[in-house]
Amino acid sequence: MPELIPVLEKDEIHKIVADVAQRISTDYQDKELILIGVLKGSFIFLSDLMRHLSIGAKVDFIGASSYGSGTSSSEQVKITKTIGIDIRGKDVLVVEDIIDTGFTMVDIIAYLKSLGPRSVKVCTLLDKKERRKRAVHIDYIGTKVEKGFLVGYGLDFDENYRNLPEIYHLKF
Ligand code: IMP
Ligand code: MG
Repeated sequence: MPELIPVLEKDEIHKIVADVAQRISTDYQDKELILIGVLKGSFIFLSDLMRHLSIGAKVDFIGASSYGSGTSSSEQVKITKTIGIDIRGKDVLVVEDIIDTGFTMVDIIAYLKSLGPRSVKVCTLLDKKERRKRAVHIDYIGTKVEKGFLVGYGLDFDENYRNLPEIYHLKF
């Protein structure tokens, strides 16, 4: 059985989410913000983030697959679910749980830009630079993490552990 080593407690996550939400609320005050969560890992972060915003926002989800059931990126990203909201001329903020190699985010940004939004920015709860292979400009970073495979608070390993309220390093 893999071991779960605590990385972020509930209180720490809550503080991070509130802080990011405040920055977003200030920056998007006079804009038409559309949050686009990357399925499935971002769904818990996104739902907490939205509830901390002091401005209005619409929400939608995009699906991308790169991982299969392993822990390393396949480098081949496929858009598995597109969005239903028209983002033409709107301000889009992509919300991700964790950015690792960068392959997923680079492809999602390119796809969303092709739909003609006014702006596309990126928000991630966790920025894991250890294995970064594609340069991604991240506008809002919850916190940086050194390395390792993380689970909990939406993040999974083979679809497990998403429901844990804290974030753990999964040690094999
Ligand atoms: P990237 O394309 O390598 O940046 O990987 C991004 C996707 O892989 C993200 O959407 C994450 O959901 C998933 N991922 C990357 N690192 C981890 C991790 O440590 N735990 C769980 N999922 C991860
Ligand atoms: Mg993900």
